[in-house]
Amino acid sequence: MHITNLDSLTYGVRDLAESERFWTDFGLTRRSAAEGRCVFSAEDGSTVVLRDADDPALPPRAAPDETMREATFGVADDAGLRVIAAELGRDRPVDVDADGTVHTVDPLGFPVAFRVAERRPVQAPELKFNTPGRPERLNTRGRFHDSAKPLEMTHAVFMVGDGIEDAVAFYTQRLGFKVSDCYPRRGYFLRGGASSHHHDLFLLNVGAKKGFHHVAFELGSIHELFGGGLNMTRRGWTTALGPGRHPISSCYFWYFHCPSGGAAEYDFDSDQVDENWQPGTFEQTPEVFAEWCLAEGMQESLLYKGVQRAETARK
Ligand SMILES: [Fe+2]
Repeated sequence: MHITNLDSLTYGVRDLAESERFWTDFGLTRRSAAEGRCVFSAEDGSTVVLRDADDPALPPRAAPDETMREATFGVADDAGLRVIAAELGRDRPVDVDADGTVHTVDPLGFPVAFRVAERRPVQAPELKFNTPGRPERLNTRGRFHDSAKPLEMTHAVFMVGDGIEDAVAFYTQRLGFKVSDCYPRRGYFLRGGASSHHHDLFLLNVGAKKGFHHVAFELGSIHELFGGGLNMTRRGWTTALGPGRHPISSCYFWYFHCPSGGAAEYDFDSDQVDENWQPGTFEQTPEVFAEWCLAEGMQESLLYKGVQRAETARK
């Protein structure tokens, strides 16, 4: 069960152009477009697939009005994929595409798929910081970003209601996910058996509500997180929450409402883990999920914008 990552998310949308504009501004790269279908990717090759909401090829909705129509996890190799197909086929319908992608539905009704991972290794630029006694960026100005270019898709979050224990058992016992951290009965951070992400999937129990919550992407620096968030704000997209910092998974975050569905999250400095990670059990509620955060985003400084415009005009 060598699941390595979250490899793709498929949305069914009513306004394809609006979603295309969002993901372009967010910093993903458009890979292909055809009538009623468009594919964007992060730098590692993980993808966001947009399709017309009425496309009959889309899997069924997990909840009424759900727009996130399938989460695809990457697997290390063909042998692992065959093991997953055989395991799932014991008690539920499984469809296998011509390209080998395995499709099914989890116990809570979320369509999930598995394929040999298409993501490629990526490496963030080296970060150099000046701290007292450690002048790593000597005689070099700090970097500023006009926008973000997400390096990798990292995790998705499903709101799953009261069946959360059954869902956790399905992902851990049937698919080999591991629990990195949890809020007992309320939230479980799950990573694939061969993943180094703190979580590829977070299952969150918020009562009766069920549906997709958000997808996250990792950036190369804190400067890029602020620059990317300011760019999204400048382009008219609305902050869902942030910027801020999560105490669990340690990352800085900034969430934006996404017209494709739920929210899209910029992250930086998320925990990465291996078999030596010590899982934690947290008794505070998942609602206390920020060390600090701004509720409504932040604006680019008008003075800074003025300086930038003056410099541009001089060039
Ligand atoms: Fe997240």
